[in-house]
Amino acid sequence: MLSVALPKGRIADETLGLFENIFEKKFIFEDRKLILKDKDFTFLLVRNQDVPVYVLHQAADLGVVGLDVLKEKELDLVDLLDLNIGKCKVCVGMKNEDHLDPDKPSIKVASKMENIARKHFSSKAIAAEIIKLYGSIELAPIVGMCDAIVDIVETGTTMKQNGLKVVETIMDSSAHLISNKNSFISKKEEILSLYERLAKVIPA
Ligand code: PRP
Repeated sequence: MLSVALPKGRIADETLGLFENIFEKKFIFEDRKLILKDKDFTFLLVRNQDVPVYVLHQAADLGVVGLDVLKEKELDLVDLLDLNIGKCKVCVGMKNEDHLDPDKPSIKVASKMENIARKHFSSKAIAAEIIKLYGSIELAPIVGMCDAIVDIVETGTTMKQNGLKVVETIMDSSAHLISNKNSFISKKEEILSLYERLAKVIPA
């Protein structure tokens, strides 16, 4: 029996689709239920950022989470497989009329991803004050709270519709299958068997 933490929303649906493909049966969460038990798997539905936390605390053997969340959290987890779904980019965005001014002593950057943002600007030797937000990041520069944002760009529509542009791409992201080290050792055969079957059905 393996337990898998999934991020609520499209990535959970797409991951369950891959499992349905492999095991030729339906995995459907009932109404508002957050747990789905089957004879081989228990699936947990959690918030995206919480997936690594459930896996790290061994509440789940496995998890499916964006590489951006993994990089942001820097936890001691096993990154098993790129599932090639939920593709997006982590980008620096600014208002269409603005640009990064190298002469400015310090800039304000709003982001959900404090660590990624901090490291990025530090690697460019730009002093940045990071303002942590939990959502609607694109609003922050419009109302003058920051000079730039670091955020997820998928289709680019949110930035575009809010008068922002991508000025830099920090990283590409997609959903990865992760495990904690204990489960990876104690359930190695089950996990590797699932890994091999998943590897055959992941989209190109
Ligand atoms: C994410 C991200 C952007 C948006 C990008 O937000 O933070 O706001 O999606 O997608 P797009 O490029 O296709 O427009 P999410 O929908 O997770 O909501 P949030 O702002 O509440 O985090």
